Amino acid sequence: MSGYAIALNDVEKNYTSGRRNVQALSGVSLTVKPGEFVAIMGASGSGKSTLLHLCALLDRPTAGRIEIAGRDLGQFSERQCVEFRRHQVGLIFQQFNLIPNLSVLDNVLLPARLAGARSEDKVARAKHLIERLGLLTRADHRPDALSGGEQQRTAIARALIMAPPLLLADEPTGNLDSANSQQFWSLLSDMLGELALTVLVVTHEPAAALEAHRVVVLRDGKVAGEFDVEDSDDAGKLAARYQRLTR
Ligand SMILES: Nc1ncnc2c1ncn2[C@@H]1O[C@H](COP(=O)(O)OP(=O)(O)OP(=O)(O)O)[C@@H](O)[C@H]1O
Ligand SMILES: [Mg+2]
Repeated sequence: MSGYAIALNDVEKNYTSGRRNVQALSGVSLTVKPGEFVAIMGASGSGKSTLLHLCALLDRPTAGRIEIAGRDLGQFSERQCVEFRRHQVGLIFQQFNLIPNLSVLDNVLLPARLAGARSEDKVARAKHLIERLGLLTRADHRPDALSGGEQQRTAIARALIMAPPLLLADEPTGNLDSANSQQFWSLLSDMLGELALTVLVVTHEPAAALEAHRVVVLRDGKVAGEFDVEDSDDAGKLAARYQRLTR
């Protein structure tokens, strides 16, 4: 499975809640190439967040194998897990999860500080990302003085401060209006090539998935199908292809 940024092979994830056993993922196999932008779509409860959490090492599969950049996550020691979460993966969630009493700049620098890497290099990178994301005039502001779109753009900068090769996002525009949402997706897609990023993003929005190279559809914890996003696609066409796979 080498050469892939992400490779899942026959992944299964079961949860036990009370006496009930929930099969959140079953028989999921999926590969993502370096530099690819893949959107994961599917109905509520289809296993999208579970899939993302497993790739971020926030949780472990019940069975199956997950490789990130050719490394088998199942073989990682505790120390390798910490190193992986710090350096290999950036995360963005629907809730922006910013620290309220820190400025934009300090929020962006937080992962570097936690990793003991608050060097001049990192400050320069933070400032570059802040500028790139249109937040230069907001660098000293606290999150409560920012719009939702600005908060989520701060979260992008924070996710990218350690220069991870992989960015994982779970419904990152779920709390944004359509203008901010559109800006988020186009910034992300512009930065993809610049930063040599591989992106896996969960979204409900066909307009957002249009920015991706490929859409993978989950249904009841399984891959229902996938399709490449064509340049000629519009949101309606994409939604129709998605709906065909969820039936
Ligand atoms: N910690 C948990 N304990 C028990 N069941 C869980 C847990 N996390 C998820 N599940 C169950 O696993 C299934 C998949 O959940 P998941 O959160 O991955 O879905 P999702 O596709 O992200 O849904 P949504 O679009 O609503 O966010 C659901 O049936 C959910 O109830
Ligand atoms: Mg979810």
